[in-house]
This record gives sequence, structure tokens and C-alpha cells, in this order.
Amino acid sequence: MLKKLTSADYIELENKLGASNYSPLDLVIEKAEGVWLYDVEGNRYLDCTSAFSSVNLGHCHPKLVEALTKQAAISTQVSRALRNTQLPLFYEELTQLTGKNKVLPMNTGGEAVETAVKLARKWAYTVKGIEKNTAEIIVCNNNFHGRTTTVISFSSQQAYKEYFGPHTPGFKIIPFGDIQAFKDAITPNTCAFLIEPIQGEGGVIIPPEGFLKQAEIVCKENNILLMLDEIQTGFGRTGKLFAHHYEEVNPDVLIVGKSISGGFYPVSAVLADESIMDVFKPGDHGSTFAGNPLACAVSRKAMQVLREEKIVENCAEISSYFMEKLKTLKNPCIAEIRGRGLFIAIELDEPARPYCDELLKKGLVCKETHSTIIRIAPPLVITKEQADFIFDCLKQVFEKA
Ligand SMILES: Cc1ncc(COP(=O)(O)O)c(C=O)c1O
Repeated sequence: MLKKLTSADYIELENKLGASNYSPLDLVIEKAEGVWLYDVEGNRYLDCTSAFSSVNLGHCHPKLVEALTKQAAISTQVSRALRNTQLPLFYEELTQLTGKNKVLPMNTGGEAVETAVKLARKWAYTVKGIEKNTAEIIVCNNNFHGRTTTVISFSSQQAYKEYFGPHTPGFKIIPFGDIQAFKDAITPNTCAFLIEPIQGEGGVIIPPEGFLKQAEIVCKENNILLMLDEIQTGFGRTGKLFAHHYEEVNPDVLIVGKSISGGFYPVSAVLADESIMDVFKPGDHGSTFAGNPLACAVSRKAMQVLREEKIVENCAEISSYFMEKLKTLKNPCIAEIRGRGLFIAIELDEPARPYCDELLKKGLVCKETHSTIIRIAPPLVITKEQADFIFDCLKQVFEKA
């Protein structure tokens, strides 16, 4: 009989054969359900990562399992050389949800951001009238928009870009949330402002109130596209369907990913109205897998579940309950607790990893970001009792004598 592999076996094999471009917690997940993760030895953990906010509807949601497996037996991939029955229905669902009327499907978040950059540049040259190859896009300090070579070119994190030059030109970085800096950075060549409404990987950084609205006005005044990256903040994570709804902003370009498929499949999309999207012509852009029937079927179902199960409302309700409790958490090393919805950061004035390790022992999976920040982002299907469990774990670790 074959020996059953242990967590240690899996870790050894992974470390031996895989590139070391991540430093994961030594937790090997075999099974997951709702907010819970189960390791190889059968231990149960509450997931406060939601796989970087991609599993907002919880792990292995039965309706998504059904949609995925049903479609898998019908047709999985036909490529955009042909048409398929799922793609238009996916477009319909997504445009109704977002209010934008054209969609360009992609697979990963990074690809969707690349797509938005191409869209802004082509719009710059063919609509705004900027001289070819001189368009500029303004972005923010501390941004995270993905890991592709162009996207890291406008990262402010040295570690993300240091050995990966030469970098793509055409980007200007301004401080996040500084409207004057934004105005000062604009030139006649500026075609777009690309921003996360809340910086996620940057540590759940919320811009000053009114910033997004002001940015929208400045964009309009200067004929600049406002491009919001809601890949991490979208689909209810912040307690509203999209984070930009807090300021009733209407972006020209909306970029989504991660939880659009409930985390079942890599799906992303760029949305815009036709006056912008129609600059793309056949041959301008594409991807073999983008818009495949399997991706579309599971994403359609994920958006339906989001509505039918009132996931955004649940997030808002649990968030106000949980944030009140969190405020009572006491430890001198806690510099700040902030967040919107279930997109929460506990910022420490010392390294966060040892706390994450302790939390793991209590049955809570959290991952640090920027070394001193613990991000709490459980699936949005969480109940009050499960939120209490998170709080009890935090209390035990942060308030132990
Ligand atoms: C705001 C934002 N944009 C883009 C990305 C990149 O998405 P992906 O990892 O799917 O390429 C991420 C991933 O964390 C993100 O948070």
C-alpha cells in the first residue's frame, strides 16, 4: 500500500521542485469548505486570507461546484476564434452588475491591468490625440497592480522591480491620496490615472475621504481616464459591491478579477463604455483562455450567488459587529486597526510574522503584508459566531500575559 504523504512530505517535495518565489506558511491544505481550511492531518483553521480576497463566497460553494462541473461536461474551451454560449451571458451579468456597457475578459488580474494600460494608450493616440509613444499614465506610490514586467515598471517597491529591468516607460508615481500631487503631475500627455480605491497589498490603506471624488473631477477636467483597479476590493470585500461606491465615483475603466469567479477559476475583466472600449479592434489584444465557457459559467454563477445570498450585505453587517470588537483589542505593539468591510489591517510596530505563527496554532490563518501588517480578510459568507472565533484567537495571542 502506498504511504499517505504527511504535511512535511508535501512541503519537502514542494521546496525541492518548485521555484522559491513565495514564502508560504507551512500549512498544507487538503480540503476547504466555507470559511474553513483543513490540513493533511485533518486540523481545521479559519481562513482570514480568502486566497488574497479571491474566495469571497467561501471555499467550495456548492452552487459554484455545480456550475463548474456541469459546464465542464458540456464545453470547457473553444477560444475566441469561435463564439460560445456562455460568454454573452457572462457579459450581460457583469455589465448589469457594474453599469459599464462593454467587457474585455482576461484571466489574471495582472493581465487585466496590462489590458487597461493598452486600452488607455490606444485611447490616448486615437481619441485624445496625444503624439504616438508619448502617453503618460499616473499611478500611486505603494501601489500593487500585479507582477508582469510592465506592471512592476510602475511599482514603487524596489523588491518587486530591482532585477527585472529595463522597465517600461510612460508612468509617473504620485503619493497615494494627494490630490495636489495628482494635479501637478498632469501634462498634456497624461491619458489615465490608475489607482486602487483602497490599497490592498500595500496594507489596506484607505485614501483621505473625498479623494476619489476629487480625482474623478480632475480627470474629467483634463480629459484623463480614471481607471480603478478593484481586483482585490471588488465584489463586496469592502462592504459595498465596489469600493468606489463609498464615494459614488463613476470610473471610466473598471478592472476586476479574483472573486469574480468566486475564486474557482482565474477570471478577470476590464470594463468601460463603448466610447473607450471601441478603440480596440480585432488583433489588438487577446488570450487563448480568456472568455472560455468554463470561466464564464462559473463567474456567472458567482455573481448570481453574490446577489441571491446577499453576500455584500452580510459583509457590511459582520464588519460593523467585528470592527467594534476589534477596537477593544489591547496590546502596545498595535499601532493601528483600520479597514472597510472585511478588508481589515492590524498594523503593528514590530514584525507581524511571529503573531501570524501564533494565530495559526490557535486555528486562524492570517498572512502578513509589508512585514508589520496583519490582514484580516475572511470569506464574506462568515457568520457572527465565526467572527467571534477570529476575535477570540486574536485576543488570546495579543493579550496573553
Ligand atoms: C489590486 C490588485 N491588482 C492586481 C493584482 C494582480 O492580480 P493577479 O495576481 O491575479 O495577477 C492584485 C493581486 O493581489 C491586486 O490586489
